[in-house]
Amino acid sequence: MINKIPQHLISELLEKTDIINFISSRISVKKKGKNYYALCPFHQEKTPSFIVNQKKQFYYCFGCNAHGNVIDFLMNYEHLNFVESIETLSILHKYNILYYKTNPTNTNNAYEKRNKLFSLMKTITDIYKQNITTNKNNEAYIYLINRGLNPQIINEFSIGFAPKEWNYISKNITINKTNQQELIDSGILIENNQGYTYDRFRNRIIFPIKDNFGRISGFGARNLNNNKPKYINSPETSIFHKSKQLYGFYEMKKKYSRPNKLLIVEGYIDVITLVQFNIFYAVASLGTSITSEHIQLLFRTTNNIIYCYDGDQSGTKAAWRTLKISLPYITDGKSIKFVFLPHNEDPDTIIRQEGKIAFENRINQATDLSIFFFKKLLHNIDLSSIEDRSYLSAKAIPLINLIPGETMRIYLKQILGNKLGIPDINQLETLFFKYKKIKENKNITPIKQTKMRILIALLIQNPHLVAVIPSIKILKKVQVKGLTLFIQLVETCIKHKTLNTGQILELYRNTHELTILVKLATWDHMITDNQVKNVFLDILTNIYNSILETRHNFLINKERKIGLNNNEKYELWSINKKLAKT
Ligand code: UTP
Ligand code: MN
Repeated sequence: MINKIPQHLISELLEKTDIINFISSRISVKKKGKNYYALCPFHQEKTPSFIVNQKKQFYYCFGCNAHGNVIDFLMNYEHLNFVESIETLSILHKYNILYYKTNPTNTNNAYEKRNKLFSLMKTITDIYKQNITTNKNNEAYIYLINRGLNPQIINEFSIGFAPKEWNYISKNITINKTNQQELIDSGILIENNQGYTYDRFRNRIIFPIKDNFGRISGFGARNLNNNKPKYINSPETSIFHKSKQLYGFYEMKKKYSRPNKLLIVEGYIDVITLVQFNIFYAVASLGTSITSEHIQLLFRTTNNIIYCYDGDQSGTKAAWRTLKISLPYITDGKSIKFVFLPHNEDPDTIIRQEGKIAFENRINQATDLSIFFFKKLLHNIDLSSIEDRSYLSAKAIPLINLIPGETMRIYLKQILGNKLGIPDINQLETLFFKYKKIKENKNITPIKQTKMRILIALLIQNPHLVAVIPSIKILKKVQVKGLTLFIQLVETCIKHKTLNTGQILELYRNTHELTILVKLATWDHMITDNQVKNVFLDILTNIYNSILETRHNFLINKERKIGLNNNEKYELWSINKKLAKT
């Protein structure tokens, strides 16, 4: 296990983060009775089956069985890994995780490793940046100025320059074994077969790329001539995830916490130029095509995504690809649109020619999804031909069915119906039905009630009940199904007295017991709050007694057959006394 973030820190972060506040700032939740309900963000549904419970600090969905505490929510909703989720919470609460070392000599902590890479990226950024800020005769600076970028914007985006040298980095920082490996890991240096290292970025303008917290996680680098490739980017590293991050996202978030719309452009320079023209809602992918993770991030941030592409053939092709991967995320209220720029233009060139107002007019007149959708599908289609009409429906229907938002789906169906000459929507529905993949509902098997299960369920749902348990010593002597888990849970609750359900379950992450504990933690056993303690004690007494009875019978039997020693006699006597009391 490399990631040894101390458990007490994790508990503390969970303690500080109220799950209701946390989730409701991301999706819309409504209070009903004790619980908060929402449309599940992890599967498509029309009626809410996603429940957030404040007392347990835990969420669960009856529809798709998604469940967990704040950490699980972050991991699933924002597609973070465990360490990144902890990091997110610690940044939220202004914790310095480094302070919380389990073992001061342990430098193998996954968080620390990431942190070192981030600070290294900052150092490298400053080295590259200096070349531009301290030397205005620098060719990169002149190039940028000639392209119309102003000094403030160059500074704001920390743009730098990597000179035409193979070992510029090693000349500017002292290299030792540790940081050499870090430089290789973060993609700054490349190691060849002979074990020699050299700079990845040479004679290139450097665009530092920030992650969602503003930490530099990678670089985009443009050459100064027309050699290919025009751009090279940092490779994928533990802190640089091209399929999840977007250039300009952090800067955009500083302006708007919930932007009305977001413009997705292709290039770093496009984002920068738009900012220079006071358009702060543009972001770009990092040298890769848009991924479904990008789209989810965008739709978590805004309801309206506008994709900007070159109007030529390759732009249309890219837009169509983006449309197809966006369809599964178009729920009601969310929209995607397309701006097609004149051939060979991009936002950077066009806004310089036309100015801000004309450029924003283009955005305001962006092409609707439905228009682009049918324009593309109807290309080369002859609607008077039956073959073409059936070809069209075969192409369109599976795509339309990817859209979870009912309004958009019905709307597109209607347009399709009109084109196909089947205005009767019901008739069309049967056609749709043929294509529709019927998703099997995950079958959540009901839990069979046993005393032990109720006992464990009550305890995991109400960890404070541990205080009413007399002693578990006697329980340890016998073997009853489920008892080991119960004893383990009791010991956990004793050890961590103030923890809530979500925090206790956190202690079981990556253990075999987690599945059953989650099942019991979310089980609706119908025992009302004011009965909980009594039922718990009743079952506990019941179990104690049956254990005593079994022992009693064993001792009586033994007495008859071979007799008892003094200790056993005493034990039988005290069991008799105890049983007589109940
Ligand atoms: P463009 O070729 O459109 O360049 O690539 P650009 O952003 O307009 O840059 P300028 O205006 O010519 O300086 C768009 C984006 O595609 C990625 C980069 O992220 C770039 O910003 N790209 C492009 C690469 O990753 N590698 C390349 O070789 C070219
Ligand atoms: Mn360009």
